[in-house]
Amino acid sequence: MEYHVVIPAAGTGKRMGMEKNKLLVHIDEIPVLVHTLKIFEKDNWCKSITLVIHKQDRKEIRDLVEQFQLRKIAAMVEGGSERQQSVYKGLQQLQSECIVLIHDGARPFVKQKYLHQLVEKANHYGGAVLAVPVKDTIKKVGNRFVEETIDRSILWSIQTPQAFQLHLIMNAHKKAEEDGYIGTDDASLLERFGGKVVVVEGDYENFKITTPEDLIFANAIIQRQKGNE
Ligand code: CTP
Ligand code: MG
Repeated sequence: MEYHVVIPAAGTGKRMGMEKNKLLVHIDEIPVLVHTLKIFEKDNWCKSITLVIHKQDRKEIRDLVEQFQLRKIAAMVEGGSERQQSVYKGLQQLQSECIVLIHDGARPFVKQKYLHQLVEKANHYGGAVLAVPVKDTIKKVGNRFVEETIDRSILWSIQTPQAFQLHLIMNAHKKAEEDGYIGTDDASLLERFGGKVVVVEGDYENFKITTPEDLIFANAIIQRQKGNE
């Protein structure tokens, strides 16, 4: 099977607290974004990468594409102020019906086997998301008093990639924009209209690099991967 991927990378990484976009920070001497892009470069099912970037990063990212000989980047478009707008701009680059994966540039540890499972499920059901069962106990709290402990067996932490039939997610983004609706992920835009989204169980290594301590964990994962090579 095959798919195209849209990678939102147009954030500024405020919570990382560095001067530059967290995706340009190095783990094991390579920028986070390059780690992510290499996963798709290596995957034979991946036919093109649409990269959504921040204007101020264009030159640096263009140089990285050259340096690391990334061949699948079909377009580099500028994003918007919200992640959702960035994704929509990326989706608009795709011309004909296909399966599209949407994957955060900030998740450099997703494994190829999950990409393929997501593509197959989206082809069948319309939408598929990668997720893991929540580890913590989750309580509903109002005014600092617990109102309810939610049954953990039904709770999942949702990651990216999220995979969709292109026309479904395009329509969902279009309607969200018309309604001024901002969702917390792409699948939620489809769910608003009863779209089917199936969950693929992934793993905890596919976390999103967000705050400085995440870089410590990221380096540890890379060192272990190297040991296994
Ligand atoms: N992103 C994007 N456009 C935006 C905001 C975010 O393309 N306007 C991208 C980020 O580059 C990242 C992914 O969406 O790859 C997930 O967002 P997040 O982890 O929140 O990254 P930032 O928004 O950059 O970080 P922060 O929220 O700490 O500023
Ligand atoms: Mg953000």
